[in-house]
Amino acid sequence: MNDKNIVKIFDSTLRDGEQSPGVSLNVEEKIKIAEQLVRLKVDVIEAGFPITSVGDFEAVKAIAGNIKGVTVCALARTVKADIDRAYEAIKESDDPRIHTFIATSDIHLKHKLRKSRDEVLEMAYNMVKYAKSKTANVEFSAEDATRSDRDYLCRVVERAIEAGAVVVNIPDTVGYITPPEFGDLIKYLAANVKNIEQAIISVHCHNDLGLAVANSLMAAKNGARQIECTVNGIGERAGNCSMEEVVMGMATRYDFYQCRSDVELKQIYPTSRMVSSLTGMVVQSNKAIVGSNAFAHESGIHQDGVLKERSTYEIMSAESIGLPTNRLVLGKHSGRHAFRERLVSLGFELSEEETEKAFINFKELADKKKEIYDEDIEALVEGVVLGIPEVYLMKYVYGASGSDTIPEATV
Ligand code: KIV
Ligand code: ZN
Repeated sequence: MNDKNIVKIFDSTLRDGEQSPGVSLNVEEKIKIAEQLVRLKVDVIEAGFPITSVGDFEAVKAIAGNIKGVTVCALARTVKADIDRAYEAIKESDDPRIHTFIATSDIHLKHKLRKSRDEVLEMAYNMVKYAKSKTANVEFSAEDATRSDRDYLCRVVERAIEAGAVVVNIPDTVGYITPPEFGDLIKYLAANVKNIEQAIISVHCHNDLGLAVANSLMAAKNGARQIECTVNGIGERAGNCSMEEVVMGMATRYDFYQCRSDVELKQIYPTSRMVSSLTGMVVQSNKAIVGSNAFAHESGIHQDGVLKERSTYEIMSAESIGLPTNRLVLGKHSGRHAFRERLVSLGFELSEEETEKAFINFKELADKKKEIYDEDIEALVEGVVLGIPEVYLMKYVYGASGSDTIPEATV
């Protein structure tokens, strides 16, 4: 297949994803997710925004130092101190990328930055050049690009490329644009930015109107060759373009989009499970691709159809995304083999010693509980691998309920 049709997957789960309200990952959790993203074969891991906190800086540094064979990227405003801090955090990476951004819409210029268009143009040029003095791999983002004046946007993008940006990102920061408009904007940039062939066009879509995936796919159909996304679509406000949906969209409808990613499809489900359990963000049951109902058939007519021929009601197979189909029920009679298999299907690659510890805890739990669910296993593994300290110890629990009584419990 022609390489020109490959769309790079830039994963921002650890940066924009971590900006989801209520989500905060520690360094060990971020490393676990980054290791899984390597198994998933994403092209770029955006590990964080190092200037924002010491914790973020340390996490990005740990990922850049430990996670090999992938580009590790750090975010920075078009400000020297941000760029210095970002580079300091990623310099141990095999391929360090600085991602620097400034807003280009008049709304942001007037109310947030309080700068003129010329001042912003100058800052973009100077700071991309400065970032370029540190690493060859520089990405520039025009924040709120989709509400920016088109010709001004073209000028900023052109200057960023002149300064050395190898990727120019067009964010739909507030999830405002529609798929036909976005496809058209990408085409317009490709036709009107003189030096555009010296850079890859990237897109970064938010989901405020539920269009992040559709917008990203239309951008790819019209020439974008990097998509920024997050696992399970987590992220600021309504979230970002969902990795699993955009990747499976291209894989399933190559005939229409004429492009695809290099993602290891069978790692999609394990990655989704891991991110959900470590972030605590539950995946809604009817979520496309990875929701628990995504491959479940309820209606009799559908069940009959699928039993006769799967393609009657399924356009993808559960196996293709790594979702185990003939699932064994885990309980006290289950052995190491079934336990190990379930760990792998949930995205956990543990050492022999960790597996053994988790297995012992699993057996202990199975003695108290008839059936062990995936959520139980995820909690067991988190305890073993991440060494979650014991904060509370349950000494006593009592519960009572019945058809005519008010249920009550005492802990
Ligand atoms: O949504 C956005 O515009 C961003 C940029 C920093 C790329 O997250
Ligand atoms: Zn964003």
